[in-house]
Amino acid sequence: MGFLEREPIMLDMPESFESSRLLIRAPRWNDGAIVHEAVKESIRELRPWMPWAKRLPTPEEAEISIRRSRLQFLDRSDLRLLLLMKDTGELVGSSGLHRIDWQARKFEIGYWVRTSYSGQGYITEAVDAITAFAARELQAGRIEIRCDSRNVRSAKVAERLGFSLEGVLRNDRCDVDGILRDTIVFSKIRGIEL
Ligand SMILES: CC(C)(COP(=O)(O)OP(=O)(O)OC[C@H]1O[C@@H](n2cnc3c(N)ncnc32)[C@H](O)[C@@H]1OP(=O)(O)O)[C@@H](O)C(=O)NCCC(=O)NCCS
Repeated sequence: MGFLEREPIMLDMPESFESSRLLIRAPRWNDGAIVHEAVKESIRELRPWMPWAKRLPTPEEAEISIRRSRLQFLDRSDLRLLLLMKDTGELVGSSGLHRIDWQARKFEIGYWVRTSYSGQGYITEAVDAITAFAARELQAGRIEIRCDSRNVRSAKVAERLGFSLEGVLRNDRCDVDGILRDTIVFSKIRGIEL
């Protein structure tokens, strides 16, 4: 049976890969502590854009989230990926391939950076490597980046990597304060940007 016809849980894929400075890997049991540290340091920057960061999750909540993410990685329903410095093992941020449609081979990349590592190109580097991973290992047909239209730093990651701006979804969702906001949609598709 070809890769495209297999049940997602039967798909083989590496659990980790590298970019020039980063080790990018699936979450593991007990990663919650390093994620909690990084989120604690970054909560002010995360809060406006990440619904789960409205308040600082406890260490136990971080571990629960990591364990759920690991199980989802294993059953291929969602592929969260942690970003670690190759040399020191420090957690730089988190990313992943979400809202997966295996039939259409569509993925959405999400990301956040640990504040002490922002402004150094780590997220751009990680998103580029994850895009290549999805194209190469998962035969992606479409990779999306979606962000709040006011989230300039996030949009710049997509633009810097040559994602195409497809449009603005007006009043698409509520922001963390419950106010309606617009969503910008960027993509790369197979045969054009992939
Ligand atoms: C969105 C977010 C991840 C962007 O972080 P970032 O640090 O700007 O992104 P990068 O790591 O790619 O770094 C890019 C910056 O580093 C600079 N840079 C330095 N070295 C670089 C390199 N080798 N390659 C690319 N950029 C480099 C770039 O010029 C850019 O700075 P500028 O925007 O001032 O021009 C971060 O703002 C964040 O975590 N926000 C909160 C969560 C969030 O909004 N997530 C997205 C939801 S859609």
